[in-house]
Amino acid sequence: MSEAILSMARPITLVQPQRLEIGGGAIGRLGEWAGAYERIFVLAMVPTMGFVERIGLKGVVETFIDIPPEPDLPAVEAALAAARAFKPDLVIGLGGGSVMDVAKLVAALWDSDQSILDVVGVDKILGRRSALAQVPTTSGTGSEAGTRALVANPETLAKMAIESRHMLADIAVLDPELTYSVPAAVTAATGIDALAHCVEAFTNLKAHPLIDGYARMGIDLVGRYLARAVENGQDIEARTGMMLASYYGGICLGPVNTAGGHALAYPLGTRLKLPHGLANAIIFPHVLAFNAPVVPEKTRAICDFLQFRGSDADALRSESLAFCRRLGVETSLAAHGAPADELPIWASEAHAIRRLMDNNPRPMSVEDVLAIYRAAMA
Ligand SMILES: NC(=O)c1ccc[n+]([C@@H]2O[C@H](COP(=O)([O-])OP(=O)(O)OC[C@H]3O[C@@H](n4cnc5c(N)ncnc54)[C@H](O)[C@@H]3O)[C@@H](O)[C@H]2O)c1
Ligand SMILES: [Fe+2]
Repeated sequence: MSEAILSMARPITLVQPQRLEIGGGAIGRLGEWAGAYERIFVLAMVPTMGFVERIGLKGVVETFIDIPPEPDLPAVEAALAAARAFKPDLVIGLGGGSVMDVAKLVAALWDSDQSILDVVGVDKILGRRSALAQVPTTSGTGSEAGTRALVANPETLAKMAIESRHMLADIAVLDPELTYSVPAAVTAATGIDALAHCVEAFTNLKAHPLIDGYARMGIDLVGRYLARAVENGQDIEARTGMMLASYYGGICLGPVNTAGGHALAYPLGTRLKLPHGLANAIIFPHVLAFNAPVVPEKTRAICDFLQFRGSDADALRSESLAFCRRLGVETSLAAHGAPADELPIWASEAHAIRRLMDNNPRPMSVEDVLAIYRAAMA
C-alpha cells in the first residue's frame, strides 16, 4: 500500500470552535454574542487589556492580566484562584497563545476538583461549566482553533501538554486589527511558529490529506504575507493573511500535530527562556533541511510557496536561514547565550519528547539532535 493511501485510511477527528467571527473589527461581534452571559472573566496581558473595551461587554466583567509569557504552573494556578473567587459563566482569552492556553484551563477547571497535574495528557478533563471565547492578538500559535494547552513545569523544566475537547472554544474571533500593535520581532517569530505548525504537520508521519490542505494554505499565506506584516504592522491584508495562516496551523495541530522541530525548540524555551515563536524560528531551517531527503515532494511544495530555489539540504538550510534573518530573527543560538557544554543535555531532553519525535518523518537520534543544536550555534 502506498504511503498516501495509508495516510488517507487513518481515522482522524477534526473539531473546530462552534462559531468563528473573522475580519477587521470582528471583536465587536463578540459583545453581541456574549449578551446572554452575566459574569465574564477576561484573561489578558498589559498589551491586550485595552482591547476589552472594544468587545462591548454588558455583564459584570473582571479582567485578569497577571499572565506571564510562556505561563508556568504557578501562573495558571493564580489565574484559577481569581476565577474561583469570581465564578464566571463566560471566560474570554484575549491575547497570544500564553493567554489563550490559560483561558482554556481556567474555563475547564475553575469549578472542578481536578488539579492541573491531574489533567496532563489526553482526555482527562471531566467537564466544563462556563462558556469559552478565544480572541487571538498574535498570529502564531493557532491556540484558538484547538483543544490543547501547554504549561511549563518549573520543577521538571518540561512543557506539559493538556488536551481535551472541554477546552474547545464556543466562539473564536479573528480580528486582524488586534495584531497591528504586535512588534516586528514578535510578528516574525510568531509567524514562523505558524509556518512550523503547517510544515511539521504536512511532512508528518501522521499526515492526512485533509490536514495537508490546511497546511498548504497556511504555508502559502506565510510566503505571501509574513514579510509584509513585519515591514508594515498596519498592512490589513498581510495581518489578515497571517491570522488565517495561524488559524490553519492551529487546525493542523489537532489531528496531526508537530514533530521534530517543536521537540527541538522546547529546551530553548524551558532552559534558555526564549519565547516559543523565536525558539521555533531558530530550529525551523535545520529541521526542514534534515527532513528534506525523506519527504522530497512535500519539501519541494514548501519551497515553492516560500520561493526557495535550493535543490539540496544545504541550500535549503541556508535559504531558510536567510528567510528568517531577513525577517529580523537572530538565528544564532550562541548569540542568544546558549552554553555549548549544555547542548548534550538539551539533546537528550528533546529526544525524549516522544509524543512529537515519533511523528518526525526521518528518525532523529540524540546525536542528530546534538548536531542540529551545534549547527544552530553559528
Ligand atoms: N495551544 C497550542 O496549541 C499552542 C501552540 C503553540 C504554542 N502554544 C503556547 O503559546 C505560548 C506562546 O504564545 P505566543 O507566541 O502567541 O506569545 P505570547 O502570547 O507569549 O505573546 C508574546 C508577547 O506579545 C505580547 N502581545 C500579545 N499580543 C499583543 C498585541 N496585540 N500587541 C502587542 N503585544 C502583544 C504579549 O504580551 C507577549 O509579551 C507558549 O506558551 C506556547 O507554548 C500553544
Ligand atoms: Fe508552536
